[in-house]
Amino acid sequence: MKIITVTEINEAANCLKNGGLVAFPTETVYGLGANALNPIAVAKIFEAKQRPTFDPLIVHISDLDQLNDLFERPIEPLVFELARHFMPGPLTIVHRKSGIVPDLVTSGMENVAVRMPSHPIANKLIKLAGVPIAAPSANKFGQLSPTSYKHVAKQKMKIDYLLAGDDIDSLVGIESTVVLVENNLCTILRPGIITLEDIKKAMPDAKVEIAEHNHKINSPGLLDSHYSPLKPLYFLDKGTETFPPNSGIILHSKNDKTFPAQKIIYTSETGDLIEIAASLFTSLHQMEDDITVNQIYIEKVKEKGIGISIMDRLKKACFQYQ
Ligand code: TXA
Ligand code: MG
Repeated sequence: MKIITVTEINEAANCLKNGGLVAFPTETVYGLGANALNPIAVAKIFEAKQRPTFDPLIVHISDLDQLNDLFERPIEPLVFELARHFMPGPLTIVHRKSGIVPDLVTSGMENVAVRMPSHPIANKLIKLAGVPIAAPSANKFGQLSPTSYKHVAKQKMKIDYLLAGDDIDSLVGIESTVVLVENNLCTILRPGIITLEDIKKAMPDAKVEIAEHNHKINSPGLLDSHYSPLKPLYFLDKGTETFPPNSGIILHSKNDKTFPAQKIIYTSETGDLIEIAASLFTSLHQMEDDITVNQIYIEKVKEKGIGISIMDRLKKACFQYQ
């Protein structure tokens, strides 16, 4: 088993200081990082991912104090309230940016997205680099998000350093919840493991809502098609009895009826939504990598709580094949 050493984290941090690109683990998915304050380094991210520059990046920090540098003052109290409850962790706050944030990071928008990962290796790396780190998920634009270094390696992007370890796979498995704070209102732009209900429970006096679909102008990364495997992916119609040859089926509970298929993967034994989220991208990568599978069918989940976040990813992953 490969374990990431302190020497490797140091090498990766030096690489970031020198304007290089580093792929690193976080508790959600692998990130592809560069010094957020160096526009030339940030430009390499867009190039490596073949990502359109209208899609802004999340800036990763290792200390809550950095919120004061990245957001324009005065910062709304809701920002600090969210930070107190959910940072470090799988939550990203979008708020008006300060002058130190390059326009390339925010795609020219007035707001910047900031997140503090709880993953110890991510935290150490950002601390050692000594600067905030801009990082999208470490996959080519539109493709599946990586939950292991092997998923990063197979994308064959131009990266200067890959922090590879077998013991540090992403535990959450889907990307962070993105929350816009504006005019004393929290708007969830991208659902994640931290749900609307979680935020309301932690902050009963705060106004919190989920963005309307047309809100995507505020978050240009929220395209209809995203996170797609390189093979056709369809929702499983539970009435179907026969499938084309070489079909792979992803189910979320062993209590469900089984289907005749070449390959079946279960994301959870019992339909537990946290487990399903944690294995969602991993199961899709397994199907993508299996040369005996030509097309993939995946079961839906109920759109409630974390189920909303799981279905958000799946609808986008299936979109181009509908
Ligand atoms: O969990 C995560 O968030 C992972 C890890 C690596 O931290 N990162 C990630 O980054 O998922 P990415 O680039 O794949 O997704 C960033 C999302 C996009 O939907 C983008 O539109 C939104 O955050 N976003 C970034 N900056 C924004 C801004 N200034 N205003 C609104 N939305 C923004
Ligand atoms: Mg992404």
